[in-house]
Amino acid sequence: MILIDGKKAAAELREKLKHEVTQLKAKYNKVPGLTVILIGDLTPSQIYVRNKEKSANEVGLKSEVIKYPDEVEEKTVLEKIEELNKDETVSGILVQLPLPKHIDKQKVIETILPSKDVDGFHPMNVGNLSSGYESSVPCTPLGCYLLIKKVEHNLNGKKAVIVGRSNLNGKPMTQLLLKENCTVTITHSKTKDLKAECLEADIIVAAVGIPELVKGDWVKKGTIVIDVGINKTDKGIVGDVDFNEVSKNAKALTPVPGGVGPMTIACLLKNTIECFKRSQI
Ligand code: GUN
Repeated sequence: MILIDGKKAAAELREKLKHEVTQLKAKYNKVPGLTVILIGDLTPSQIYVRNKEKSANEVGLKSEVIKYPDEVEEKTVLEKIEELNKDETVSGILVQLPLPKHIDKQKVIETILPSKDVDGFHPMNVGNLSSGYESSVPCTPLGCYLLIKKVEHNLNGKKAVIVGRSNLNGKPMTQLLLKENCTVTITHSKTKDLKAECLEADIIVAAVGIPELVKGDWVKKGTIVIDVGINKTDKGIVGDVDFNEVSKNAKALTPVPGGVGPMTIACLLKNTIECFKRSQI
């Protein structure tokens, strides 16, 4: 079984990006800039944002975090986004989710200029991705996609089963695998027989947030299994896949932690650089 080392893959990607930033700096005499907006004091969000900032600095991006208290008015956040949209030194804008209840997530997402939307959440980017046009691609599925491609370059005709239909993961993951000529099944909480669907798969991407949902006997021999889950349990952090059981059948499997997580952040840096490059044309 191949243990897919997301930490190593992310470090390699960051090294490549660092080199690219050096070249861009020489060519344009400026570097791509990422601005993250963090609202409130949810601990996981604070940790993510700190990691994002650290990684951005490591590859030589200009990085800025703007923090607001939980009770900040929606108008203040929207005005800040408008200001960042106009700021030429800002290539990418990310508003960390989840947001406090009184702030309309969709309004926030739609205020970010599509060309600066490093999350790929703006409807314009979602539409472009599904039409096969150039777009920002959400960082987590992009990270999963790059890990799958590391194990198997040619995905032509493979059967992929995605567990979870979220806008963040499941839906964009479908588009990326369709582009690679996979036959994609997207499953969810109302799917009749999830086990039977998974048993058909050459590739499984589990992104539902249910601890160890995907069992060993759900996976046929030789399947590539990508675990997007990060679930806090009494046993500590576990994924959506039963790692010990599934590792007996899978051809390749991502660990949690150290699988998809580090790649997500590296892909955010990649997206920021792509936004910068597109803005220079
Ligand atoms: N919160 C958890 N994951 C994400 C993500 O990919 N983007 C943003 N903006 N917030 C998140």
